[in-house]
Amino acid sequence: MAHLLLVESWVGAMGTLLPRAIADLGVEFTFLTRRPEHYPDALPDGSPHPLRSGRAVVTAETNNPAAALDAARRIHAEAPLDGVLTSCDYYLPTAATIAAELGVPGPTPEAVDIACDKARTRAALERAGIPGPRHATAPVDDRAALRAAAETVGFPLVVKPTDLCAGMFVRRAGDWKTVEAAAGDLRRFEVNARGQRREPVILLEELLDGREFSVESWIRHGQVRTVGVTDKSLGGASGFVETGHMFPAELTEQDRSQLVAAAEAAIVAVGLDHGVVHTELRLTAAGPRIIEINPRPAGNQITELIRHVTGINLPTVAVELALGREPAAAPDPGQGAARPSSAAVSMLVPTEVGVLTDLHGVGALADHPAVVASVFKAPGHRTTVGEDNNSYLGSVVTVSSERAGARPLAEALLSSISVSYGAEPTP
Ligand SMILES: Nc1ncnc2c1ncn2[C@@H]1O[C@H](COP(=O)(O)OP(=O)(O)OP(=O)(O)O)[C@@H](O)[C@H]1O
Ligand SMILES: [Mg+2]
Repeated sequence: MAHLLLVESWVGAMGTLLPRAIADLGVEFTFLTRRPEHYPDALPDGSPHPLRSGRAVVTAETNNPAAALDAARRIHAEAPLDGVLTSCDYYLPTAATIAAELGVPGPTPEAVDIACDKARTRAALERAGIPGPRHATAPVDDRAALRAAAETVGFPLVVKPTDLCAGMFVRRAGDWKTVEAAAGDLRRFEVNARGQRREPVILLEELLDGREFSVESWIRHGQVRTVGVTDKSLGGASGFVETGHMFPAELTEQDRSQLVAAAEAAIVAVGLDHGVVHTELRLTAAGPRIIEINPRPAGNQITELIRHVTGINLPTVAVELALGREPAAAPDPGQGAARPSSAAVSMLVPTEVGVLTDLHGVGALADHPAVVASVFKAPGHRTTVGEDNNSYLGSVVTVSSERAGARPLAEALLSSISVSYGAEPTP
């Protein structure tokens, strides 16, 4: 039986989808984590969480790459490892390094380092001659350098960290005062949610205008293959919160092929040569522009949308690639006729700070024939004004036999829910 090392994980959808894909392939895994208590013991239905159903849960300081590698070597000596994976962005470089050191399949660590650092990604794309937004970096605590960076980029611009995800601290700024406020918020956020010290750097980018998409690809032996293009709806307090996705994206064939070509060129430019990749782009009047390149399967249930429509399960592809196998990505043609033509997810984003007291209309939603999944927070959940993708109160996934039919359905169903907020209890 093949044996995989899983280095940490997200706790959201991918925290379940990836270990399930491993188990469904009949592969064993050891889960390496610095804090087992960070992860749930059970699924909402009470069954054991798939992260806990591997061969073993091993505790080691995964925030120290050398300690993580030592632990991996000990596990490897006891039960040889055939591959290394993580779904959590904060551990992608460590997982790539462990794979390279153990001599098992994986992407070039240098390329993963570049992709996981938004400033290094911009520099690599620029070196390759790929057009992108004007951009500049500054140390978070250097006001003069930040001001000079803002002048280089010009307004309106986007203030962003180089090393976070889920849209955290990504802000549109129309003036210097907003840049300073956003920089102040970033300066105070010194340690990420996994206890890692953050890069004290701030990235400023020209605001790119145009619809946003993601291109889902996988690479083996340096050859990039694209599964499709997903479209993205944006909203929330920052305007950059992902409020929904649909697969396949509603696009002309010409726009679609331009987006795919741009994503594939960017993947090659950063040097990614192995694994599943989720590339985000905006389609501007001047053509596609890269937002970022994530060397992992897409989150926010995008892989589920793709599975419903194409039969391709990208978490499974990620596991097969990690083991050095050719993915059995071609779906069973016999099932094609039964598949929907589009699938969409819509996220419920809170609009008030407080406590969730009720979600009216959720019960009826689960019984709707177009709904394939829906999940919502329980009363008592603390809410924020939705400024990033961690603030969701729930989501609904729909399928439709019509191309582009799934998104309006998901949006209509979600808008039928009304949210009641209460005041936060005083401590
Ligand atoms: N230069 C830009 N121009 C316009 N919009 C931008 C720009 N940079 C970022 N954004 C918007 O902010 C969102 C979040 O930015 P980005 O993807 O870089 O951060 P992230 O935290 O890695 O996001 P996630 O992990 O959710 O994909 C993007 O999806 C996009 O809508
Ligand atoms: Mg992003």
